[in-house]
Amino acid sequence: MPKKLLFVCLGNICRSPAAENIMNLLIEQENLGDRFVCDSAGTGGWHVGAPPDKRMRMAAKERGLNFVGSARQFESKDLQEFDLILAMDRDNYRNILSLGPQGKYADKVKMMCDYCQNHTDKEVPDPYYGHADGFNHVIDLLFDACGGLLKSLKP
Ligand code: 4NP
Repeated sequence: MPKKLLFVCLGNICRSPAAENIMNLLIEQENLGDRFVCDSAGTGGWHVGAPPDKRMRMAAKERGLNFVGSARQFESKDLQEFDLILAMDRDNYRNILSLGPQGKYADKVKMMCDYCQNHTDKEVPDPYYGHADGFNHVIDLLFDACGGLLKSLKP
C-alpha cells in the first residue's frame, strides 16, 4: 500500500500545493511513484477550486517547474485517511489537530520544517501578502524539507 502524504497550509494555493508538486517531483526522480500518494489542502475554504496562486506558478516557472492543482479544504476525515500530515506553520498544525479528538492523531501530524536539512526556519512563511522573493524562499525551503522528508520515508 502506498504511503499517503498530505501537505496543509491556510489557503491551499501557495505553500501546500508547492510542497505537493515538489514532493511529487522528487518521488518521480527517485522512481518511487508506486510507494507514495501526495495531496494538499488548506485549513481555510476561501480558495476552494482555485489553481495555485499566479505568483507561485511564476516563481515555479522560472525554475522550469509547472505547479498544478485545485484547492480544497482540509476536513476531519483527512486525519484518518492520510498516513502523514505535514503542516506548513504552527497555526496550520493547531487547526489540523483541532478537528480530531485530543491526542488521537498527534503522531501523524508533523511540522514540515522538521525535515529541513539545510535551512533553520521553523515554519514555512506565508508568502500571500508579501513580495515575490517570498515565493522563491518558500520553494527553496520546500525543496530542502521535501528532500529530508523523502529520505526519512525511503524504504
Ligand atoms: P497559503 O497562502 O496558505 O500558502 O495558500 C495563503 C493563501 C490565501 C490566503 C492566505 C494565505 N488568504 O488569506 O486568502
